[in-house]
Amino acid sequence: MAHRLLLICLLMIYKVSSKDYWNVNYSLSHMCALKNSSVIINCNYTYPDGHQIMKVFWTKGPVRDVEPPDLSEDPEYSQRLQYLGDKQKNCTMRLSHVTKKDEHKYYFRFITDKPGGKYTGRSGVTLTVTDLQVESPERVTEGDSVRLTCKSSCALTDRATFIWYRNSQPLTERRDRNNILLLQSVRREDAGRCSCATHLHLS
Ligand SMILES: *[C@@H]1O[C@H](CO)[C@@H](O)[C@H](O)[C@H]1NC(C)=O
Ligand SMILES: *[C@@H]1O[C@H](CO)[C@@H](O)[C@H](O)[C@H]1NC(C)=O
Repeated sequence: MAHRLLLICLLMIYKVSSKDYWNVNYSLSHMCALKNSSVIINCNYTYPDGHQIMKVFWTKGPVRDVEPPDLSEDPEYSQRLQYLGDKQKNCTMRLSHVTKKDEHKYYFRFITDKPGGKYTGRSGVTLTVTDLQVESPERVTEGDSVRLTCKSSCALTDRATFIWYRNSQPLTERRDRNNILLLQSVRREDAGRCSCATHLHLS
């Protein structure tokens, strides 16, 4: 008798955790992208067996009681938002040419063929859009060594590779760390506008 009860329990736990479960899993809750770059928001979703997905879309917060709008029908997004997922379990999307105006919380929503078969992944993904800035000493004298730091309001990860420019020409000087450039014993001819860039989006 005891054996039988245990078996039933295990079956129920299995059923709850793997089926009959509405969920949207965002791989990150917060993402940071550089202005004008593309950001890929990875996501997957689950729903009970027997449902067939009719509509999938991304929307942005705040979430209200009304049916949320499909961003791919919003002229601000339609040209830039690309759904890379499917109608089974992958809800990945890409937003390109991001601007400050894209700083919102984004949610994935899907609708199935069954009555009441609607679900929005409530936790969402917050997007921050940032710019790179060069930090340099205020005053530089000829012969000084100058340390330039490329900064952004997001954490600069080790994955990002920085490229330095002076008056649009790439600089090849030595680096202390990835985002720091060291100009040794500068000369008057070195004066110019320095900037930095990175290819990877940050997270
Ligand atoms: C944005 O990126 C595109 C290429 O993806 C480039 O052609 C364009 O000049 C960039 N715009 C700005 C303002 O940097
Ligand atoms: C979901 O789709 C994206 C884009 O096609 C892909 O890069 C990603 O690996 C997929 N995720 C899974 C878990 O299959």
